[in-house]
Amino acid sequence: MRISTRRFLQTAGLVAAGLLLAACGKKEAPPAPSAAAPASAPAPAKVYVVGTDAAYAPFESQNEKGEIVGFDIDVVKAAAAKAGIEVKFVNTPWEGIFNALGQGDRDMIVSSVTITDERKQTMDFSTPYFDAVQLIAVKANSKIAKFDDLKKAKVGVQTGTTGDEAVTKLLGKTSTAIKRFESTPLALKELEAGGVDAVVADNGVVIHYVANNAGAKFKTVADKSFAPEQYGVAIKKGNAELLAKVNQGLAAIKADGSYDKLFAQYFGAAAAAPAAAASK
Ligand code: ARG
Repeated sequence: MRISTRRFLQTAGLVAAGLLLAACGKKEAPPAPSAAAPASAPAPAKVYVVGTDAAYAPFESQNEKGEIVGFDIDVVKAAAAKAGIEVKFVNTPWEGIFNALGQGDRDMIVSSVTITDERKQTMDFSTPYFDAVQLIAVKANSKIAKFDDLKKAKVGVQTGTTGDEAVTKLLGKTSTAIKRFESTPLALKELEAGGVDAVVADNGVVIHYVANNAGAKFKTVADKSFAPEQYGVAIKKGNAELLAKVNQGLAAIKADGSYDKLFAQYFGAAAAAPAAAASK
């Protein structure tokens, strides 16, 4: 947040005045800052609050400094800059993330959110910015070779994700073989510990985890029966102004090559061309 020197001095002045009043023992409350600010002072730019479940590398995670980083973050920062809006990312647990949007605690959700017809009933989505599909993680020595094999397995998923939906459809709503976790890394840890036989989650996250946790001895199993998915920025239903800005920003970064650059940075140059084209 940027505060001009003038604004800072004004505020500091008010605080000093307040302290003086207090020191004099008067009961008068210090004037509200807004009332004292001259009418000509520019209104501070609105900072849009973006909710993200930052346990989903390489899309959104927290680095050693506690900063929220990742592909989604960079894409939305770049798009916001193009659209001339300010954004601030706030780590928000996946469970309840859409409620936070509905209640206005967050202006948008950027969290590898798959655009689904069901979600579209309660929120609006930007144009898609990434193609994804579910991928199965199993131990390297597992006999599980296709999605259908999960019918006889204990399966870990992150609660309320599209992975949860796919597995619930296969095993049934009342299945006790589905183990639901608060985050995808927790589900993968449980796979490593042997508490579940497989985990179903977004391909990018599974691939990233397997590559960065060689010690876990996982392999991945793809299956054509998983429906193609696309990520979008979720925006409170009816906020057409913000939706238009986000779409404008996304279009601008796709047009000038900065989206492709970010894609190559995170997923490798070879994969950039087809996948980026597909999500345009
Ligand atoms: N794409 C999936 C979905 O929308 C999973 C997203 C989970 N995102 C996260 N940051 N945990 O359901």
